[in-house]
Formats: sequence, C-alpha cells, structure tokens
Amino acid sequence: MKRVIISGSGVSIPEAVITNEDLVDSFNAWVDRENGDRAARGLEPLQKSSADFIHHASGIRRRHVHTREGILDIDRMTPRIAARDDDALSVLAEFGAAAARAALADASMPADEVDLVICASSHLQRLYPSIGIEIQQEIGARGAAFDLSLGCSSAAAGVHVAFNLVRSGAHRRALVVTPELITAHLNFRDRQTHFIFGDAATALLIEAVEEDDRPAGRFEVLDTRNWTQFSNNIRSNFSYLNRAAQEDVSVIATEGNLIKQQGNRVFKDVTVASHRFIVDFLAEHGRTPDTVRRFWLHQANARMNQMILKLAFGREIGHDTAPMVLEELGNTAAAGAVVALHQNHKDMAPGEYGLLCTYGAGYSIGGALLRMI
Ligand code: COA
Repeated sequence: MKRVIISGSGVSIPEAVITNEDLVDSFNAWVDRENGDRAARGLEPLQKSSADFIHHASGIRRRHVHTREGILDIDRMTPRIAARDDDALSVLAEFGAAAARAALADASMPADEVDLVICASSHLQRLYPSIGIEIQQEIGARGAAFDLSLGCSSAAAGVHVAFNLVRSGAHRRALVVTPELITAHLNFRDRQTHFIFGDAATALLIEAVEEDDRPAGRFEVLDTRNWTQFSNNIRSNFSYLNRAAQEDVSVIATEGNLIKQQGNRVFKDVTVASHRFIVDFLAEHGRTPDTVRRFWLHQANARMNQMILKLAFGREIGHDTAPMVLEELGNTAAAGAVVALHQNHKDMAPGEYGLLCTYGAGYSIGGALLRMI
C-alpha cells in the first residue's frame, strides 16, 4: 500500500450574505400574510421565527448564499437561478470547478496530473451525466470521474473512496469536490429548517507519495472510516418519481418534497453516535481524543459539536481544538467540515494529529485521521 497525503485544499464561498434578521423579517412578513388568510378560513395561525432563537439554538448568525435574489421575496422564497443550455457549464459544475481550481493552485498541481474526480455532495443537480465528469472536463483532468452522495457525510465518504483507490494504486491523484448549493433545495417557508443552510464548495487533492518524498506542511491520511444506519429524521423526497405520483403532471410539486428534519431527534441520535465513532475510530489507532490536536467536525450546530466533544473528552473543549465556521456560513452540508479544515490547519506542528469527522442524513458518519508531516 502507498502513502497518501492531502496535497491541496480549496474552497469557494459565495459573496452574497443573508443574516438571521433578513431571513426572519421575510419569514415573518410571509407568516403575517398567511395568517390573515388562515384566520378567514378558521385555521390555527402559523408561528413566527426569531433571530435570537436561531442563534441560540444553532450558533448560526448569517449564511453565504449563491444568490440572494428571490429568497427574501415573500411571493417566491426560493433563489432565482436561471436554467442554462445543455452545452453551457452547469451551475453545480461551475461551483465545484472553482473550488477544484483553488485546491490545484494550493498544491501547485496542473489539472492534467489528476486522474480521478469524485463529486461528493449531498445535493447533485441532475442524475446524469455525472457532475464529476463535467468538472473533470472543465478543469482539464484526465482519467475517470463519478458522483457520490451521502448526505452531509458526502465529502468524508469521497475522501474514504479516494484514499483507498489512491493507496491501492488504482489512481495516482484524486480530487474530491464538494459543491453544496443547498439553498435551492431548502424550504424557506418551514420555520424548523428555513435558517439552517448556506452554500459553499470545497475540494481536496489526495495523492500517493513515496516514503522519502512526503512534503512538510501537508497531511498524511492515516485511515478513513464510514458508518451508516437508516433513519427518516432527515429526509428529502425530491425525485423524478414526484412527477409520476401526480395527476396533473404539468407542474412538478415541490411542497413536502424539500428537506425536512426532526432537528431535536437528530441532535440526540447523532450526538451519541458521533462521539462513539470518534472514540472508537481513534482507539483503533491506539489514540484517545486528548492526543489529537484538532477536530474539524461537521458544521450543523455549535451546541451539538460542544456536546459531542464533551462526551468524547469528558470535559469542555474550545474552538482552538474544534474550530467552527458555522456562525458565518450556516450549515453548508458536506462542505462545512472541509471549510473548517482548510481555514484551520496552518498552525499545526509536524507530527500533530487531526480528525475530520462529519455526520448527517442517512444517518451517516465519516472520518479521516490525519497527521501533519
Ligand atoms: N423560531 C423560533 N422558535 C422556533 C423556531 C424558530 N425558527 N423553530 C423552532 N422553534 C421553537 C419550537 O416550536 C419549540 O418551541 P416549544 O418548546 O414551545 O415547543 C422550540 O423552539 C424548540 O424547538 P426544537 O425543534 O426542539 O429546537 P432545537 O433546540 O432542537 O433546535 C435545531 C433546532 C434544528 C437548531 C437543532 O435541533 C439542530 O441543529 N439539530 C441537529 C440538526 C443536524 O445536525 N442535522 C444533521 C446535519 S444536516
């Protein structure tokens, strides 16, 4: 088996921002209008959202979005993203390619040295051709490409696959690209979830190196792991089958088929499962959490990450050990933990360990144990 390193990382974060206050003003204006109508029909009023609740419950203050256009408009509450011709670069491939190019620049690696592209995302724009193949063509990579989806654990699953294909010698150099344009699948009229997600794209370049050619300042990937257990507590029913389930097939229904979750049940189930995953995975390598310098956890909820770490360590853990990017970006699905890694590793000393650990829909948990060279 070959040695495997992460030779570059890159992110693409959209400039447009929506604060909690922006979002709540729009949501509550829509609720006021709906409630006028509901009162006339003798229905229970809808409840309003609150910026204080959002920050307190999740840790999120704002999110970067692909576009603000349409999201805050109470007649639409959906981002406006124009359809493109089939021969134009797709929106998701464009987003992913930006992150892929940033990772290649970070590694000073020409794209034609890459022989595998995995587009690993919780949200894929279409069934085929694979977004990964379009990214492969757009950046000028060689070899093969495919898409992979495992909820918010998609990037970690992509690293799991890339690590094993590269260390076995099946591929020399793999890009794991994670474009998460999740605001387009979010129901901005659902009080439980309207505040959760933001958009971001990430990429990691993973390659095999010789024993005596391991570059300082990069991570060696020591091992990767995935765990899954079926749950309906985070679910999207959006599918080509939606059309087949309707009498009127002229309009595709989205209401009820967008993201939904039982947030408090996910919180409890995943906190228990993730802390066990962390402790067990590290134990397989003869390590305890205290011997790991940094944890780049999935960025879904600040309180949840505190709880996971408290259970794993047996005490409170600060942001220097487990950095958060959630306050500024919201939950960017599978991209979040990779953004945290990209922005928080340059201060690590040779020999220090780090753990990428993501969790989400499925349920799914993914991890990669890294050591700074
Ligand atoms: N504004 C104001 N109040 C709200 C609200 C909103 N937008 N949304 C819910 N509430 C209210 C509820 O009605 C409830 O009120 P009640 O106590 O009077 O019944 C109360 O707040 C608590 O609701 P709950 O759903 O239990 O909130 P929570 O503390 O669990 O926080 C999440 C909600 C979504 C932030 C949290 O559950 C979470 O982050 N879960 C994990 C999600 C996750 O990890 N997903 C996987 C990866 S994508």
